Amino acid sequence: MRILAADDNAIEEAARLLLAGDIVAFPTETVYGLGADAANAPAVAKVFAAKNRPSFNPLINHVCDAALLKGEVEFDSRAQELAAQFWPGPLTLVLNKHPAAKGASITHAGLPFMSVRVPNHPVALQLLKKFAQLGSGLIAAPSANKSNSLSPTTPQHVAESLGDVVPLILAGGKTSVGVESTIVDLTTSQARILRPGGIAPEEIERLIGPCGRAAAGEAPMAPGMLARHYAPAKPMRLNATSANDDEAFLMFGPHLGPVTGKLQLNLSEQGDVVEAAANLFDYLHRLESSDVTGIAVMPIPEHGLGIAINDRLHRGAAAL
Ligand code: TXA
Ligand code: MG
Repeated sequence: MRILAADDNAIEEAARLLLAGDIVAFPTETVYGLGADAANAPAVAKVFAAKNRPSFNPLINHVCDAALLKGEVEFDSRAQELAAQFWPGPLTLVLNKHPAAKGASITHAGLPFMSVRVPNHPVALQLLKKFAQLGSGLIAAPSANKSNSLSPTTPQHVAESLGDVVPLILAGGKTSVGVESTIVDLTTSQARILRPGGIAPEEIERLIGPCGRAAAGEAPMAPGMLARHYAPAKPMRLNATSANDDEAFLMFGPHLGPVTGKLQLNLSEQGDVVEAAANLFDYLHRLESSDVTGIAVMPIPEHGLGIAINDRLHRGAAAL
């Protein structure tokens, strides 16, 4: 495995690896992705194997430009409005597949839907552009971590999780948003938010009106909906106002009371949910590899990106 600073040569090499049916890790504004040519079934199968995904869950198709989706998905007026407003950006749309779609069916797990997004990261966009010149232009990419573990927000996180199976990691620093994209299901007339993420649900609803939510216990359209997902290797306790002596304290907001816990990290001293989202997975990675017995987490306000943070924390804390 090599980690390369993402200059023009490294991006060209990554695009050629994709064209040859190999897998490559690359940065997006949300988390690092593990990419393969979406039109190459054996290449996509390598992604599932590398992650130990227990079953073939559908992957997000990344493109540099929504125009590349013509003939791949049915783009209705809601999709057009959302894409015009939020792409490039942390929004994934689940759309009905076009009858002539070229993507390999393993990419969308044989479902009649495809999920698509244009990421907002210079390295991801350059890689996607290069790959559109050489190949299909659609890169299928889940988060670049082993199944059920924390998502990676730095190249080092990717190396720790997948270093033995991925030949190349394009390094592009720490990701800016830090939680995965918001997933909106537009396959029926009732739009639904399947996974809260980098764009707050209220911003989506401002544009296309009230959206449903994925029901608890519903058969997952998205594995990010599974009760225990995004889980650190240490038990987590939520809405804690202090930590025990052997626990880490994951804090939020200005700290007023006595310092408690074996070690402390503050997601955002200013109490800013955007800053907290950017730090979330990085801090959980650090705490899961420290010598504490568990992680006590302060309450996070349930608005804006706080909704995505609380979603990940609740899934991470769910009993096995
Ligand atoms: O921010 C992100 O979305 C990152 C970066 C790399 O783009 N990707 C990511 O991928 O989080 P992943 O595979 O870890 O989560 C994608 C979610 C999964 O829960 C998957 O089931 C759902 O999207 N999904 C993908 N395609 C779908 C489809 N055709 N129908 C329903 N759900 C789909
Ligand atoms: Mg994931």
